[in-house]
Amino acid sequence: MSKGPHIQIRNVTRQFQVNGGSLTALDDVSLDVAEGEFVTIVGASGCGKSTLLRLGAGLDTTYKGAINHAGEPVDGPSLDRGMVFQEPRLFPWLTIERNIALGLENSGLPKGEKKALVEQHLELVGLTGFAKAYPHQLSGGMAQRAGIARGLVNRPNVLFLDEPFGALDAITKTRLQDELQEIWAKERITMVLVTHDVDEAVYLGDRVVIMSPRPGRIREIVPVGLPRPRVRTSAALVQVRNRVLDSLNNTTQPVPQQAARNIGESSPALRPVIAAVG
Ligand SMILES: Nc1ncnc2c1ncn2[C@@H]1O[C@H](COP(=O)(O)OP(=O)(O)O)[C@@H](O)[C@H]1O
Ligand SMILES: [Mg+2]
Repeated sequence: MSKGPHIQIRNVTRQFQVNGGSLTALDDVSLDVAEGEFVTIVGASGCGKSTLLRLGAGLDTTYKGAINHAGEPVDGPSLDRGMVFQEPRLFPWLTIERNIALGLENSGLPKGEKKALVEQHLELVGLTGFAKAYPHQLSGGMAQRAGIARGLVNRPNVLFLDEPFGALDAITKTRLQDELQEIWAKERITMVLVTHDVDEAVYLGDRVVIMSPRPGRIREIVPVGLPRPRVRTSAALVQVRNRVLDSLNNTTQPVPQQAARNIGESSPALRPVIAAVG
C-alpha cells in the first residue's frame, strides 16, 4: 500500500534565464497525484505544462520546492517513470521492436526477458505483427502506439504524457484515447497527461488540473467524478467540460495561489458541478 500521495509536487517554482532576464515558467505549484490516478493537465500554450511534466519525470532538476515519487525525492530520470512525447521520437533506422527495446537499455535485464517484454508491449498497444516494420511504414497513430509501448516497456509505475495525441487526426485520436484508458485500467499505473484538448482532459481524467499562464500556476482542479467507460456526449461530461472551459477562459485573470490549491475538494464554486455530475 502506498503511504501518502504517489507523486507529490510542493511549492515548485521554475525559472529560466532568458535574454539576461528571469522568466518564471512555474510559480509555487503544488499538486498531489494518488497511486493509480489519471490526472490530466490543461492550459494555454506557454503556461508551463511541459515544464511541470519534465520536472515530475526527473528530466529537469533545476527548481525550487520539493518533488517526491513514492516518498523519494525526484532527482533525475528513473526507470520507474515513463514519458511519452507528442512526436513518438522513433529512430528511423531501427525496427519498431528495436525502438521499443531502447527503453530497456539501462534495465540490466537479460536478453530473453527484454525480448519478452518488447513482445508483450507490442501486443498491449496493438502492434503485434509490426515488430520488424520501420517507423516510415507506420501511420501516425501506429507510430504513437510504439511511443507509448516504449514509455511502458520498463513497467514504470507512473507514465507522464505530453500532448501524446496532439498531432493525430480526430478519429485516430479518439481511438488512441480509448486504448490508453484500457491500458491504464489494465496496468493500474498512475498517469499524468498534458493536453490542450479540453474534451480529452475530461474524458480521460479523474481530475483535471487547469493551469494559467504568466507565470504558470494551477488555477483550479476539477474532479470529473464520472464512472468509466464514459460517454463523450453525455450531459454530465459536457457539463464538466463547460466548467473546465469557463475556468480556462478566465485564466488571464490572476488567481491567488493559496485559493487555487485544493479547490477540487472544497470550493463552494464547484459544489454545483460535483452535485450535477456525481
Ligand atoms: N529551456 C527553456 N529555456 C527558456 N525558457 C523556457 C524553457 N522551457 C520553457 N521555457 C519557457 O517557459 C514557459 C513555459 O513553457 P512550457 O512548459 O513549454 O509551456 P507549455 O508546455 O504549457 O506550452 C514558456 O514561456 C517557455 O518559453
Ligand atoms: Mg508543452
